[in-house]
Amino acid sequence: MPDRRDELAARPAGRIPVHPSITEQQISDLVDKFYDRVWEDRRLGPIFSARLEHARDAHLAKMKTFWSSVLLRTGAYKGKPVPAHARLTEVVTTDFEIWLGLFRPVARDIFSNEAAPLVIEAAERIATSLWLAMFGTPFSNPPDWRARSG
Ligand code: HEM
Repeated sequence: MPDRRDELAARPAGRIPVHPSITEQQISDLVDKFYDRVWEDRRLGPIFSARLEHARDAHLAKMKTFWSSVLLRTGAYKGKPVPAHARLTEVVTTDFEIWLGLFRPVARDIFSNEAAPLVIEAAERIATSLWLAMFGTPFSNPPDWRARSG
């Protein structure tokens, strides 16, 4: 039986994946498929293409680094998501629901049954942080994304 200490010693300190089955290839597929759907979406597509018309590939590369940092704990992503989203003044709460509604089935398609819920929870948690940064006040309760997904 593999010793858990060997597993930990093989990785830089603290870099334990959200689930051991998650691979860079899956993350790359997640980003490619998810943003294909985002770009095709009637509501979200124009929000992205207005900013990233000529920078789609760079955005996908950045998002692969981001998701590797989140799911594999690589620490490679050094960006600042909060100011990037604060600039999107046309975004409303239901846009987050659309975003998560596109994300969940792609994640379930790509990741194992054990990993997919953890990937989706990570996306929901980050959606909540971004929502709080965009719309929150000291008194606001963030939306319950699960209750709203029907
Ligand atoms: C209503 C939902 C959302 C919309 C409309 C949206 C839209 C965008 C757009 C247009 C950009 C590019 C900004 C720019 O480069 O000028 C961006 C960047 C980004 N988004 Fe979102 N987003 C949404 C939700 C999310 C969620 C839920 C996550 C994470 C789970 C996320 C993660 C990121 C990251 C990491 C970047 C790159 C920020 C950087 O430049 O470092 N977004 N988003």
